[in-house]
Amino acid sequence: MEKVQWNNDELVDKILLKKQELGNQLIILTHHYQRKEIVALGDFVGDSFELSRKAAADRQCRHIVFCGVHFMAESAAILSQPHQIVQIPEEEAGCWMAEMADTPLVEPAFEQLESLAGKGAIVPIVYMNSDAELKAFCGTHGGIVCTSSNADKALKWAFEKAEKVLFFPDRHLGHNTGYALGLTAEQMAVWSPHKPFGGNEPEALRRARLILWDGYCLVHTRFTCEQIENSRARHPGAKVIVHPECPRELVAMADASGSTSRIEKYVKDAPAGSTIIIGTEINFIERLASEYPDKQVVELHRSLCPNMFKINLANLLDTLENLGEKNVVRVAEDIKAEAKVALDRMLALA
Ligand code: 13P
Ligand code: SF4
Repeated sequence: MEKVQWNNDELVDKILLKKQELGNQLIILTHHYQRKEIVALGDFVGDSFELSRKAAADRQCRHIVFCGVHFMAESAAILSQPHQIVQIPEEEAGCWMAEMADTPLVEPAFEQLESLAGKGAIVPIVYMNSDAELKAFCGTHGGIVCTSSNADKALKWAFEKAEKVLFFPDRHLGHNTGYALGLTAEQMAVWSPHKPFGGNEPEALRRARLILWDGYCLVHTRFTCEQIENSRARHPGAKVIVHPECPRELVAMADASGSTSRIEKYVKDAPAGSTIIIGTEINFIERLASEYPDKQVVELHRSLCPNMFKINLANLLDTLENLGEKNVVRVAEDIKAEAKVALDRMLALA
């Protein structure tokens, strides 16, 4: 049978009807980078930390539909209650950065570092943008999960426990946070996962306090210092804010940096008539521009996350019509329990 093609207005109407039918049995969580029509249909929009907190806090509803990328939905599944079912509208909505580290690479790296520094001398910190197994690794190795909104707190937490930290997979977030906490370049080393000792001399690793996995986000490494210079020349007096997944030089040059929610607050708090140049995902910037018409919100450069963009009205409706069945996000019970330890440590940072 041929599939019926609905237009966008029809899709919106059908989604709204489903939401009405399900009432408080359903919650739709949306990340800031989602298309604006998806955010408009969601019950809650936030950054990756706020979304995980929301998933952990909502104990009533039966169905959580997560409009974001897979690691975010997986974290919601880990933090949800046993009676709750988490679904993602498009299973293929992954995250390139999250794929840059996995347990077969991280485990030997950690062992090599321990062989130099001694057992218990290193705490692992995994960025939320990672799979459940890596979060479980942190849970069982005295480590913690962090997001871009609490990486500083997580790093301070870890340094209270040990001399060294292995931070993965985003080297830029680690680098920016290390600098913000006063570490010097000599106190940080980059770990290339396919080289012995990560491509470092043992002495450099003995000296380093923060070891940064060589992973990055392709959406946030497209920005350049030249773009900041050119944008400032085009918009004299404008403020520049970038996401901390951007390389260090950009963060150093910008007026501010922060998670997606911090960026939203920055725009909200800016005086009417001001211009804000933003270095992050384009769908989010365009939504901010339409939500704050009294300010000029400009992109540093157009950079779209194709993974976030995979969620659309058609697959959201399809999920709502197949509740509890299609694209259910499942995590093995043992991994779930261990990963939850590391996620709970993050939620407790406050
Ligand atoms: P936030 O933690 O700011 O939501 O960012 C997640 C992300 O994937 C940014 O690329
Ligand atoms: Fe992953 Fe980058 Fe997309 Fe964020 S913007 S979800 S880090 S690929």
